[in-house]
Amino acid sequence: MGPPGAGKGTQAKLLEEHFKVRHISSGDLLRAAVKKKTPLGVQAQCYMERGELVPDDVLLGTIEERLRQDDARVGFILDGFPRTLPQADALCTLLQAMDTRVDDVTSIEVPREELVKRLGGRRTCRECGTMYHVDFNPPRTPGRCDECNGELYQRDDDKEDTILARLEVYDRQTAPVLNKYRAHGLLREVAGLGTREQVFERILAQVQKH
Ligand code: AP5
Repeated sequence: MGPPGAGKGTQAKLLEEHFKVRHISSGDLLRAAVKKKTPLGVQAQCYMERGELVPDDVLLGTIEERLRQDDARVGFILDGFPRTLPQADALCTLLQAMDTRVDDVTSIEVPREELVKRLGGRRTCRECGTMYHVDFNPPRTPGRCDECNGELYQRDDDKEDTILARLEVYDRQTAPVLNKYRAHGLLREVAGLGTREQVFERILAQVQKH
């Protein structure tokens, strides 16, 4: 967990490689649906463009379907979900039905000015989804992915007004979810400033301690 730009996607990918369990991002699932113009994507697009959360009833079925796929049987790293209290309750019910549970919740903490800088400079590969930052993690060739030479693009919701709207939504709707996990003793808060590798070491240390 963590606000937009905290590095959830970046760190979840590193955790996926380390623990060999799937990284499942609600944002990636939604962006894929928008790209394919599925019924979910058509419904979700206008909320995402405004920086608002997609309604729970639109998203929950998709998350359930994804968590029930074979590659998630050995576990998964959720990124961007749950983001509201009803989503957290729905996740708890779903995991009980699947005879599993949330083991650990990591929240990446980053000051707001840094979040705005990170999001404004983020570029993503259209082909393979690898993420870059124009200053902090630039590709070798500007505009091209180091991994697959795909085109790099700026997400529609990474424009300044939308970034501010997303941060406000996070404070209002997602902070209560952190409080819930804190009350259950599951939450680890990790400082998200520093290099990607330094943040990863901190997360790993917390997860392994737990
Ligand atoms: P989503 O895709 O989840 O976006 P987000 O939460 O806004 O988070 P981001 O992906 O923007 O940031 P991140 O924390 O993953 O950071 P990243 O690693 O990319 O959601 C998008 C939208 O979908 C929502 O607004 C909503 O509409 C909808 N949605 C999604 N889930 C939903 C849900 N559960 N319910 C309802 N609606 C939902 O890093 C950011 C940048 O920083 C990158 O450029 C990266 O290279 C750079 N960076 C990373 N780490 C560092 C570091 N240590 N130092 C310097 N730069 C760094």
